Formats: sequence, structure tokens, C-alpha cells
Amino acid sequence: MAVTKTSYCCQNCGAQHSKWLGQCSSCKEWNTLIEEVIKKSSKVNLGLSNDQLKSKAKLVNDIDFEKDPRLLIEDNELNRVLGGGVVPGSLILIGGEPGIGKSTLLLQISLEIKNKVLYVTGEESQQQIRRRANRINNDSNQCFILNETNVETIISNINAIKPELVIIDSIQTLQTDIIDSSPGSVSQIKESASQFLNYSKKTNLPVFLVGHITKDGGIAGPKILEHMVDVVLQFEGDRNNIYRILRAKKNRFGSTAEIGIYEMLNNGLRQVTNPSELLISNNKTSLSGNAIASTIEGIRPIMIEIQALVSSAVYGTPQRSTTGFNAKRLNMLLAVLEKRAGFKLSSKDVFLNITGGIKIEDPAMDLAVVSAILSSNFNIPLQKRICFAAEIGLSGELRSVPKIDQRINEAEKLGFEILVVSEAAKISFIPKKLKIISYSRIEELIKNLFKEQG
Ligand code: TYD
Ligand code: MG
Repeated sequence: MAVTKTSYCCQNCGAQHSKWLGQCSSCKEWNTLIEEVIKKSSKVNLGLSNDQLKSKAKLVNDIDFEKDPRLLIEDNELNRVLGGGVVPGSLILIGGEPGIGKSTLLLQISLEIKNKVLYVTGEESQQQIRRRANRINNDSNQCFILNETNVETIISNINAIKPELVIIDSIQTLQTDIIDSSPGSVSQIKESASQFLNYSKKTNLPVFLVGHITKDGGIAGPKILEHMVDVVLQFEGDRNNIYRILRAKKNRFGSTAEIGIYEMLNNGLRQVTNPSELLISNNKTSLSGNAIASTIEGIRPIMIEIQALVSSAVYGTPQRSTTGFNAKRLNMLLAVLEKRAGFKLSSKDVFLNITGGIKIEDPAMDLAVVSAILSSNFNIPLQKRICFAAEIGLSGELRSVPKIDQRINEAEKLGFEILVVSEAAKISFIPKKLKIISYSRIEELIKNLFKEQG
């Protein structure tokens, strides 16, 4: 028997209240309560038999996990970000700004994968998807397209088609018969996601959910959505730039340090397997203010170019502006330069840019940032084939960074001649071509690299 009741649901946190309030008592946000009619049927049938719906406890040693190997997709960047392929029965949420390429990425993997896929779209027509598939230039006889927003209809299609992977584009367009509110509302998103969660856990079917983001950059809908799913991926990038980065914000089956890099071309997304070569400009002449950092993101070494511009401040308060680098970290490095090396940067504007619009957080970038700033300050270009990998401590000491051997290999492979590291770095082998220079303090770096000033 169906019971109908009305409740006031907070659009921010999803808390239910029996009466209207100006402020949500749970998350303390104002004016977020909206009346919703909840129709709870006594039993929801997901097309599963009673036996499948019952859960039983098992001894941990008796749980068979080898039986379901990960599903590998024809996209190594995504496989790596997921921690080595898609885990059966996992729910993967992928968020990103409109037009960044979420639908393109997921359609592309649906067309390339060798298994049966169901791509459900609530946003575009089947013809639009077909047109996009033609543009991506991939045809497949394993990929089904469904234009539907009703959760129950989608699930009956899944039962009929029996795909090995389902893509839902997007969670905000879904609506379930269980509740009456409009698609996109907090309770609809929560209920629809939990139906897919139940279904995928019972049947071991992996599901990708596309999520829209709010203007603050979070995924639209209740915060609980991110708790419910197994993996939260973020597809980001600068719209004016062709590079896109896929990052794991949460991953129950792997590291969140991995990133995947793509290039948006006319015929879809291309995986970038050699990011270092793309992120370093091929200027023939050395320019002052440029330095190259040897960074590691996840397990992959990436060389990135850092550009700094130091100029006299026009106004009283000097400007500090960064793109792609943490502004607080920059202030700290400037303070270290001022205190430990005696630079009068307090009367200088400092601008810092990481090329390619890529955001990477590796403390090993510190030394390259400082070198770029000093190079611009003295107007002395650094040698062309030099790169840096060390963290800088508050007392001006160079600190060692992890995975130094990998950084050495990457620098050597890309034809660098010198790598500057901390004296404390634990290097286990001597490279053939690359020269390693180590310093213990920032003053030594200044004395040796910028001799004219030292
Ligand atoms: P889309 O996948 O629709 O973004 P989202 O689903 O995240 O909103 O991406 C659309 C953008 O990508 C659009 O601005 C056009 C561009 N694009 C290309 O540059 N090349 C392509 O092959 C495709 C399919 C899209
Ligand atoms: Mg889309």
C-alpha cells in the first residue's frame, strides 16, 4: 500500500523536516527548505527475485573477489585514475563544468569498449548522440543508446539488454516514481542514486553517473551523493586551453593521486601519454624568469615549466598573483627568500604562472618556483637544459622529495643535462648523461646559479 506524506526537504543537505523553517536545523543554511511530496510504496521492485534481495553475512575469508576481475576500458588514462580498471558493482560519479567534455569522454569509452554498454542520456536526443559518435569517428555494435529519465524504465531496459557497463548522463535529469518532486531536486537525486547503488551492488554492474556542478565547483545535489558512490572523479581544465585533467577526488579502490591528461581535439578526446613534452615550451633561446620543475603526480613524473615575473610595485601594496600554484605557498617562499637570503621582495610585484593551465600539487616544485623568481629578479636566464626537484623549508634549507630516481629517469629521457636536488636526497644510482647538483641551502643555489649576483 502506498503511503503519501509531505515533508520539507533542505536543498542543501537533504535533511527532512516535518514543518517549514527559515533555517535548516541540520546544515544551518537559510531559505533552503522546499516542500516535497514523498510517496513511499511499501515495496520497491527492482526486477530482482526475493533471493537476490536478501543479504547474508559471510566470513571475510570466504568472500570470493577473484571471480570478478576489473573491467578494463580502452582508455589507459581512465583505467589508471580508477586504480586499474572499473571494479564490478562500483558506482562512479564524474563531475565537471558544462562543456568540459564529460559526455564526450563517456561516449568515447562506450564506443571503444569491447563489452556491451548502455548509454542513458536525459539531456540529448539519440540523434544528437549519433552525430557526436560520428564526430568521434568510432562505430560500435555493442553500444546501446537510451533517451530516458525515469529510473524504473532505465532499470527495466538494463534488465532487458543486460549490459556490462551503464552510463547515466546525468544524475540531475533522473526522476524516480518513489517520490514526487521534480528532477534535479535534492531528494530526487538522492533517491535515484540510491536506486542505482542498490541495483549495482546486487547485480555487480558498474555504473558511471555524470554530475553537474554548482557555481562553487561542488557536485550539484546533496553532499551525501559523494558519500554514497565508490569513486568521485573530477574532469577539469581551462575551457580556453585544450588540455583536460581527470582527477580522482575519492576512490575506494585506488589512489587519489593519479591524474589522467587529455587533449580536446575536433574528433574527441585524445589521451596524452607524454605530458612532459607538451608542457615545456620549445623556445630556442632561454628567457629569464623560466624554470622547469620535475614533479610527480601519482606514479607518473611530469616536467612542467614555471614562469615568474618580478617587477617594481607601482602601488604601495605589492601584488602577488599566481595561476596553477598555491598562493599561500608562494607567499611563504617569498618570505623565506626575504628572511634567509635578504631579498627585498616586499617592494616588488610577483606573478607566477604554470604553463598549460595544469594544477599540480607537488612540494618538489618549490625549488623551480624560487629559481624562476630569482631569475626574473636578476634578469638572468637559467641554462636551457636544467631542471629542479626539491622542497624548501622555512629556514631556507632544501629538503629531499620522494621518488627521486623516477625524476632522474624522466629528466634523462627528455634530454635534460642538469637536475638540481637537495643534498639530503637519497639517490640510488648515478645517471649516465644527467649531471646531479645538490645544495643544502638556498644561499648556495643563489651563489652558484646566479654567479654575477652571488
Ligand atoms: P561535452 O562532452 O558536451 O561536455 P559536457 O558533457 O561536459 O557538458 O563537450 C562539449 C564540448 O567539447 C563542446 O564545447 C565541443 C567540444 N568538442 C570538441 O571540441 N570536439 C569533439 O569531438 C566533441 C565531441 C566536442
Ligand atoms: Mg554533457
